[in-house]
Amino acid sequence: MTMNATIPGALRAATPVMPAAADPVAAFIASRQFDRPTLVVSRDRVIAQYDALIAGLGEARVHYAVKANPAPEIIRALVERGARFDAASRGEIELCLAQGATGADISFGNTIKKPADIAYAHAHGITLFAADSEAEIDKLAAHAPGARVYLRVIVENSEADWPLSRKFGCARSAVLPLMSYARERGVEVVGLSFHVGSQTRNPASWNPVLDQIAALWDAGRAAGFDLNVLNLGGGFPATYEDEVMGAESYAAAVMEAVIQRFGAVPYIMAEPGRGLVAEAGHIVAEVLLVSRKSADDLHRWVYLDIGMFSGLAETMGEAIRYRIETPHDGGETGACILAGPSCDSADILYEQRPVMLPLALACGNRVVIRHCGAYTSSYSSVGFNGFPPLDVVVI
Ligand SMILES: Cc1ncc(COP(=O)(O)O)c(C=O)c1O
Repeated sequence: MTMNATIPGALRAATPVMPAAADPVAAFIASRQFDRPTLVVSRDRVIAQYDALIAGLGEARVHYAVKANPAPEIIRALVERGARFDAASRGEIELCLAQGATGADISFGNTIKKPADIAYAHAHGITLFAADSEAEIDKLAAHAPGARVYLRVIVENSEADWPLSRKFGCARSAVLPLMSYARERGVEVVGLSFHVGSQTRNPASWNPVLDQIAALWDAGRAAGFDLNVLNLGGGFPATYEDEVMGAESYAAAVMEAVIQRFGAVPYIMAEPGRGLVAEAGHIVAEVLLVSRKSADDLHRWVYLDIGMFSGLAETMGEAIRYRIETPHDGGETGACILAGPSCDSADILYEQRPVMLPLALACGNRVVIRHCGAYTSSYSSVGFNGFPPLDVVVI
């Protein structure tokens, strides 16, 4: 019997997006045993995605948002391919330098930086920094003389699955005053940055945001600021539950919209994180328990050995909906509430929209959570409830 009849909006059982033979990560997982949740990521897949993105981005340079997946092997492969990097902290800068990037390849994109980290970046040849406030400009003037600064602007990004509004950026009305403030302190404002919001599935969603930024760009230039760096941020999507547009076509659509509004800009940079690495990795995990809360409970509860605190933080608010494969796919399914293993009631992955999983699913079964290469290992806690951080294998 299928238990899903009364559960509107529940997900259908996942079907594999790619045959195992064409998916080296799936083939690797299938050929091995794992004793704890493990993210397996393919370097070749990251590089193929990088190539697709740069084909669509044309003149724009990729600064990979390291926070999405800081595996050293991935950073090295991207260095060798000619990528640049968006670092959020001294730790990420050290990582990129250790993997062969130079200071000139790295932008320090966090608008909230420790003064000592600014000095470290400056000492290691980084000249491009983000700022969104007077106080941050003061820090840059003091600790990174000669810094080139792009101002991060708040934009509306309600169409993103994982919005990044509010915390970063200044209001549009603050941009010109900040440019003047920086000039008075000898800090060179070279451009603007924004983020349309992570996992923006439709490239047309960029248009109103680009309109807002282009108006500021024109106003800044009219006021005598030599703007020459346009930082498009991230937002490039990955296929999760729903298939998204290919990376090359998506990037090309964004660039067409950029060029229509900005014309020729000396340096355009994009900071893909998710769109570069998410599809390159899957997590292999295990079912720990399948149970019901009562005899007439319509849902089964399925508890995995991975949860909100051990790598799947982006299920918060059920924002990112991963596809889950099981050994029983194709069999009869029912609605499940999916949860993690920790003793924390926030550790529920999908409940508002339950997941349809096979009725045969049982304790000990392996599950493969697809397209988990971004924001999993880097979000995994260290030792919460005694669970180790997510294991990462780069193939
Ligand atoms: C400054 C900055 N750039 C780029 C990114 C990457 O965004 P995405 O993963 O959507 O590509 C982020 C994500 O938080 C960010 O904060």
